[in-house]
Parts: sequence; C-alpha cells; structure tokens
Amino acid sequence: MITPLYAADENRYQKGMVYRNAGYSGLKLPVVSLGMWHNFGDTAPLERSRSILLSAFDSGVTHFDLANNYGPSYGSAESTFGQVMASDLRPYRDEMIISTKAGFDMWPGPYGEGSSRKYLNASLDQSLKRMKLDYVDIFYSHRYDPETPIEETMQALVDIVRSGKALYVGISNYPADKAYEAYKYLQDHDVRCLLHQGKYNMLFRDAEWNGVQNGAADMGVGYIAFTPLAQGLLTNRYFNGIPEGSRASLNHFLKSDSITENVVANLKELDKIAGSRGQSLAQMALSWILKNPRVTSVIIGASSVAQLQDNIQAVHKMGFSDEELSAIDSILSRF
Ligand SMILES: NC(=O)c1ccc[n+]([C@@H]2O[C@H](COP(=O)([O-])OP(=O)(O)OC[C@H]3O[C@@H](n4cnc5c(N)ncnc54)[C@H](OP(=O)(O)O)[C@@H]3O)[C@@H](O)[C@H]2O)c1
Repeated sequence: MITPLYAADENRYQKGMVYRNAGYSGLKLPVVSLGMWHNFGDTAPLERSRSILLSAFDSGVTHFDLANNYGPSYGSAESTFGQVMASDLRPYRDEMIISTKAGFDMWPGPYGEGSSRKYLNASLDQSLKRMKLDYVDIFYSHRYDPETPIEETMQALVDIVRSGKALYVGISNYPADKAYEAYKYLQDHDVRCLLHQGKYNMLFRDAEWNGVQNGAADMGVGYIAFTPLAQGLLTNRYFNGIPEGSRASLNHFLKSDSITENVVANLKELDKIAGSRGQSLAQMALSWILKNPRVTSVIIGASSVAQLQDNIQAVHKMGFSDEELSAIDSILSRF
C-alpha cells in the first residue's frame, strides 16, 4: 500500500494551543509538548508512532522531547523520529522545536554515560545522525554528574551552541544548588540556560519546595515538567485493573504494586472533581500544573492518538477556583 503524502493541517495554529516563552527567552513552547521516552522505540509499531507524531503537529504541538537512550532499544526513539522527519515532517522543520539529551547510560565503557565533554559531544553527534537533523533546538545535560566538574559539562554545552549543533541548552534533574552553578556558568559565557526539565505532577511536588522551580524562575530559566501524568496514574487508565500492554503491566518504570485499591479510590475522587470542571482526570492533572504561569510546558507521553488528543484539550481550562484547589489538596493528602 502506498502511504499518502502528509500535508499538515492548515488550521493547526487555530485550534487553541497556547504558547509560553521559555523563561527569559524569545522561544515560545506549546504548553503541551510530546515526549518520546516510551511508545516510540523499535518495539512499537512505526505506523502508530507516526500517527501520534503527526496528530500532535496537526494540533499545534511544536515541541518534541527526546533523549539518546529513549526506546527501547536505546536510540530507537530517535531513529523513529528520524524516519518520520524524512517521510513527513522535513518541510516543517522550522516550525518544530526538537530536544535531545545525554547523561544516563547509553553505550558500554566509561564514555557512554555521565556528563563529560567526551560523552556529550559523541552522543549529540550520534543523536543528530539518528534523527536525520543538522541541529537540535535544545540539547540537555540529562543529569548532574558528581564525577565530572560542572565547569566541564557547562563548557561542553557552551561549545555545542557555538558549533551550531544546538540552538539552546538546558539541564535536567539537577539539584537546586548545582542548577544555580550551571545557570551562572552558562550566563557568564553568554549562553543562557533555556530550561530546567524536572519531574513534577500532582503526586510528586518536590520541585515546589526544594528550590528547583523558584531557583529557575529567579534566574530567568523556564521550568518544563516531565511525567506530568505520573506515567499514567493520573488518568483513568487503571480504574478497572491493569490493562494488557499498559505501562504498569510492564512493571518496570511504573510498578504494578503502586496501583493499590486506596490509590484507585483516590484517583476516582479526583476524577469527580475533574468531571465537575468538564475535564477528564488527565486533562485536570495537566491543567493543575499549567495553572502556574512559570511552568513553560508539560511533556506528556501517549501510546495512542486518543490519549494525545485527550491531553491536548487541557489547554482550554487552565484556571482553578480556590474551592477546587482545596478539594484537590485534601484528596492528594490521602495518597
Ligand atoms: N528528563 C528526564 O529525566 C525525563 C524522565 C522521564 C520522562 N521525561 C520526558 O517526559 C515525557 C513524558 O513522560 P511519561 O511518558 O512518563 O509521561 P506521562 O504523561 O506522565 O505518562 C504517559 C503515559 O500515561 C498514559 N496516558 C497518557 N495520556 C493518557 C490519557 N489521556 N488517558 C489514559 N492514559 C494516558 C500512557 O500510558 P500507557 O503507555 O500505559 O498507555 C502514557 O504512555 C517523556 O517522554 C520524556 O520526554 C524526561
């Protein structure tokens, strides 16, 4: 069968997507971004991955988040992205913000993980080849590495920007004190840190009090939240057990024993509040993060076009009443 040529929806910027500047920068990101950690590797059907990517772009989602080792297997999410870039999205490259990262384990030996200059440069070169790109928009140091002087990591990021292989740089998973050192180093070398990417959702709120969100805001760095749906917990995915093929059924990154009766009962209570707002639980969980204007974007995952489209509708109602917030807090305290 011949797959028809893709032409992006002409109304993609009239569907209500909201764009926010990433910190003190001129770069606007969609408040809902699409991440490719799961569901886009070489074990996932290419046609499904392609449909999700194109449906996102057709809905005004311009930001796609990757990392060197997303898959499984490692590297394969970037390869999938490269294939769809080549077959469909190439004409739209200037409308897209593509990020990748290096920091966690990628290949064997001492130069295949961490945050050394050697690893970051080699990894980015490999990522560009897999994604069939000349440059990425954002390159992240994926984690703080206590075995590498932070000056080495940051200078590598500065040099990557100077080389033209990335337009902007960011950090991810850095503790607040090291993040501050990173922001300072980059700023002193005329390359501002664009974003801090961190784990944040209704059930995991450390970034509110550990200095990461406030520290980023103070330094004009945007905050972008990953796993905003707690890997699927903050949706109706587990209301009737653990479906075959779901993240929890794989029992790796999301443990099946985390889906207890108590958790599901509390999720159903949250879902009632969502319903009274005219939202699904997933939409309310995303809106709850986006109510904070200092959060640039949420990076969602999706294993179907239906999930993606459900999530994108969160942009239509990002405000909460005080009563809703206190009712939500009272349920969250029971988890
Ligand atoms: N910087 C870092 O260290 C780091 C770490 C983790 C993630 N990230 C980034 O964050 C992105 C998102 O992470 P994540 O995939 O864990 O995010 P998530 O949005 O919290 O979870 C996504 C999963 O939730 C389920 N889901 C999503 N929408 C749904 C809906 N409307 N209804 C029912 N179920 C729904 C799906 O699970 P099923 O697969 O079961 O259908 C989906 O795979 C990653 O792709 C990556 O880009 C970064």
